[in-house]
Amino acid sequence: MKKHPLIINPSLLSADFLHLEKDLKETVGAGVEMLHADVMDGVYVPNISFGFDIIGKIASICSVPVDVHMMTVAPWDYLDVLKEKGAYSVTIHSDVGDVCRRRDTLARIRTLGMRAAVALKPAFPAEAVSDVIDLCDMVLVMTVEPGFGGQKFKGDMLPKIRDVKRIAERAGTTVSVQVDGGVNVENIGLCSETGADNFVVGTAFFGAENKKERYEDLREAAVCGASRSARG
Ligand code: DX5
Ligand code: ZN
Repeated sequence: MKKHPLIINPSLLSADFLHLEKDLKETVGAGVEMLHADVMDGVYVPNISFGFDIIGKIASICSVPVDVHMMTVAPWDYLDVLKEKGAYSVTIHSDVGDVCRRRDTLARIRTLGMRAAVALKPAFPAEAVSDVIDLCDMVLVMTVEPGFGGQKFKGDMLPKIRDVKRIAERAGTTVSVQVDGGVNVENIGLCSETGADNFVVGTAFFGAENKKERYEDLREAAVCGASRSARG
């Protein structure tokens, strides 16, 4: 089975928007492998974040890929602009549109040269991605209700990581598994041990005094979890 590299992916929702350029330089300088941008439309979730121009500006000064998490009711309306603004990957939720719409959207994301992903809110089982798994590069297992940073990690979502991997395997494919919500140094090892490889970290990354140290602690804990799982 294809092995996915471990990726520490800070969530920009928790960045310091009054000093964004400085914060981004420190973040990329800390060694992170990706940046996570949450787009919220105030309808799919009860919050509004930032839009595509901001994402474009961020992508233009950062040397790491920008991963866009679309918490919007109509993500298909924004695929061209996301490509134009430099998005590397686009995640849509498993409960937007019908299955045909989701399949078309994921296929279009790939045609545009971006990586395609589907996110599962806590209420949805892994099976909710089975009808689109062949079009996914990644599945996002939400470990909080989407909409806000700073919430408590839901440990009972962890078995879903294994379920997603099993569904992918059954479909003859392999996907990266991302976790998002309340991830920190204490629980990241458990996430990687269970099979996740892409770790979105908002509060626990941007709240750190020293971002480089925090990145290294997160990475070390993730690597330890992955090697525990490799040893069985
Ligand atoms: C929540 C967002 C997350 C959020 C994570 O809806 O999808 O990306 O920013 O932040 P923390 O790590 O603080 O839970
Ligand atoms: Zn997110």
